[in-house]
Amino acid sequence: MATREATWAYRNEFHEQFARTYFRRFADGLVSSVGAGTYLGDPTDAADDRYHAALVEAFESGVNVVDTAVNYRHQRSERVVGRAVADADVDREALLVATKGGFVPFDGARPDDPAAYVREQFPEHADAFVRGNCIDPGFLGRSLDRSLDNLGLDAVDLYYVHNPETQLEAHDRETVYGMLETAFERLERRAAAGDLRHYGVASWESFRVPEGHESYLSLPEVVRRARAAAESVGNAATSFRAVQLPFNVRMADAFTVAAHEGAEGTQSVLSFAREAGIDVFTSASILQGDLAAGLPDEVAAELAGDTPVQRAINFARSGPGVTSALVGMGSPEHVGENVAAGTHPPLGADAFDAVFE
Ligand SMILES: NC(=O)c1ccc[n+]([C@@H]2O[C@H](COP(=O)([O-])OP(=O)(O)OC[C@H]3O[C@@H](n4cnc5c(N)ncnc54)[C@H](OP(=O)(O)O)[C@@H]3O)[C@@H](O)[C@H]2O)c1
Repeated sequence: MATREATWAYRNEFHEQFARTYFRRFADGLVSSVGAGTYLGDPTDAADDRYHAALVEAFESGVNVVDTAVNYRHQRSERVVGRAVADADVDREALLVATKGGFVPFDGARPDDPAAYVREQFPEHADAFVRGNCIDPGFLGRSLDRSLDNLGLDAVDLYYVHNPETQLEAHDRETVYGMLETAFERLERRAAAGDLRHYGVASWESFRVPEGHESYLSLPEVVRRARAAAESVGNAATSFRAVQLPFNVRMADAFTVAAHEGAEGTQSVLSFAREAGIDVFTSASILQGDLAAGLPDEVAAELAGDTPVQRAINFARSGPGVTSALVGMGSPEHVGENVAAGTHPPLGADAFDAVFE
């Protein structure tokens, strides 16, 4: 697992190359505010090799956050992350390795008959799938075992329940909160057993949509459920620590939509998370590559960076409460540009607010 000592040593090696606040606190360690994502790309050996080269370069040049999921590229992404962690000239304990469970993991390629694959591989959970998503504790437990195997690690630093809002298509909200609490009990036990350090929820919609939206989940309620789960398994404190959600220049609702009840009334998810001590990792930070074509002029003018991608990354890194902006990095030729975003300072809080005026 990532340790305080190794992440601080990593920061000490690299921080002079970066601007202020490039490294940020995560629990007792320090992590880079640019992280490597592994979602997109073909499920091929050639794409694996390119990911491997990109991730090794990223780890060796100042990125100590990597994000994956058991289902990404049919388990190929986890396997290549494992290879890159092993091959990079970086201490494993300096890296925050995050993965997710909740979707069916195909094995290397999509099978001809996905439904038959699910019935064969996961017979006891087959009825619990909603569009390929299942958050049953038994399924998550098996997924975590598979992830550890794919990654070649004894433990992951952060384990997300993946897009649980999918369950709202089949169950009412109270039922889904209950399902999450049961899932969290399993993750609390796995934390106590040392298989994961922290856990959280990765979502595409639930935390950034308004309360009336069909995909809405309340982060305060999710946190309450995590605390209850910790208590019921006898853990002194919950290991729930982070959320992952899309945030970029064109999808800024995590900052603009107030939908979570906090001490100061209804707050945006970024604002609530910051006050609750929940770390936020942003997905789709460059809108799945689209922001390489440019940002709106009035926003670009406010952001530091030599290229549109760097300015886009710096927008995501500037979100109040954002710990790290994840950027998909399947191509070695993109890594240098993405990492160098961190040589420019992010916006301060007032300047960030001003972008929205
Ligand atoms: N929970 C969820 O539902 C969820 C959803 C989406 C993503 N995520 C996580 O968040 C990470 C980031 O999101 P994302 O990958 O979807 O989108 P993204 O980071 O906004 O964009 C990634 C895309 O941009 C390209 N790219 C990267 N650097 C570039 C550069 N300098 N110039 C031009 N193009 C560049 C990448 O190509 P190359 O790969 O060829 O470099 C890839 O196609 C994911 O990888 C994943 O780990 C989570």
